[in-house]
Amino acid sequence: MIKSIAQVSPSVHFIGAFDPRIRTFDIIMKTANGSSYNSYLVRGSEGVCVMDTVKKEFSADFFKRLELLCEYDEIRYIVLHHLEPDHSGALEELMTRAPQAKLIISGRAVMMLKGIIKTDVPFEVANTGKVISLGDKTIEFLSTPFLHWPDTMSSYLHEEKLLFSGDVFGSHYYDERLFDDEVGDFSYAFKYYYDHIMRPFKQYVLQALELYGKFDIKLIAPLHGPVLRTNPQFYIDKYAAWSSEAKFRKHTFGNKMLSVFYMSSYENTHKMAQKVTEGADSVEGIVASMYDLASLDENNMVDLLEESDAVVIGSPTINGDAVKPAWDLLACMAYLESGGKVGASFGSYGWTGEAPEMLHDRMRWLKFRLPVKPLKVKLIPTEEELQACFDFGIDIAEITMGKMVEMEI
Ligand code: FEO
Repeated sequence: MIKSIAQVSPSVHFIGAFDPRIRTFDIIMKTANGSSYNSYLVRGSEGVCVMDTVKKEFSADFFKRLELLCEYDEIRYIVLHHLEPDHSGALEELMTRAPQAKLIISGRAVMMLKGIIKTDVPFEVANTGKVISLGDKTIEFLSTPFLHWPDTMSSYLHEEKLLFSGDVFGSHYYDERLFDDEVGDFSYAFKYYYDHIMRPFKQYVLQALELYGKFDIKLIAPLHGPVLRTNPQFYIDKYAAWSSEAKFRKHTFGNKMLSVFYMSSYENTHKMAQKVTEGADSVEGIVASMYDLASLDENNMVDLLEESDAVVIGSPTINGDAVKPAWDLLACMAYLESGGKVGASFGSYGWTGEAPEMLHDRMRWLKFRLPVKPLKVKLIPTEEELQACFDFGIDIAEITMGKMVEMEI
């Protein structure tokens, strides 16, 4: 039952839906106290604009709230800041009920639209700088791609200095009190959301913040969780700091970071890892370190991967496979910007020895640069083989420092 309609600013009301029971979002995110699918209605002197819809299962709440605020024939615009189903679930039905409304999407959303609503509908494209008017209200669009879908955009309601930020600045945090000064402590959810949704796209976050910086923002209305009205700059500064962190750290130390992650059953892959690390570390400008995957938790994996210019993974082959922690490590790349890092793999084996090649293949799909072939040793490495590990480390380190190689494998 709809108890009340929250007024966000003089002309803006919340018409979204609350989902207190969701516990996993987008497969990868835990949502301990649920979430919300925020949608807003903007009323101007010449009509109404609906900002996003909700997940399909929550359409009834969305339409009930909307009907308390306007007639369908008053709706002039429907804006979809991106087309992900948690925000486009009621779009088709809304367009049926308000056929005169003009749908506004980003240029990148054009190719996705048919995939989402499976029918041809008229739409208009908004890029940075496009403006629509509701008479006494003006909405300007900003292209903020990849936050968190490629088609994401934001918009700014000039008269009320309100930023509709899309997923940016969101939290999976259910609290019907809605505003940041009235809900419980959502700081953990705000950071967790950033880490899982925005962190892989830090460069795009910084670009978006640059665009936002041109506006005086008094209020941020994101697509999930609390509306941020007490001190929006606090949240903007958080995003700026988190998105710049790694760059600043690297520049401070001035060296490139090469990390050797390994696991070992009988010390053989461990011995290889030590030699690879020593070889890499002997190259000027490289700081090489080794980490036993048996004792590394996921948060540390993500941080180390992010900081590393080169990632070298050592795994024995057990039952024809690399060990699970090695796959878990690579799965953490889902939270990070991909591409550009140097990668390599090695391992000792008893019977078949597929693990280094399998890891190599996986790293190729993850867009690592893979300039050297995987290195394998049968059981206990000899002195010559340990020397080969040392040289392997040197090769990877020199390439990380910029040495040109003839061919990427
Ligand atoms: Fe909340 Fe990217 O959808």
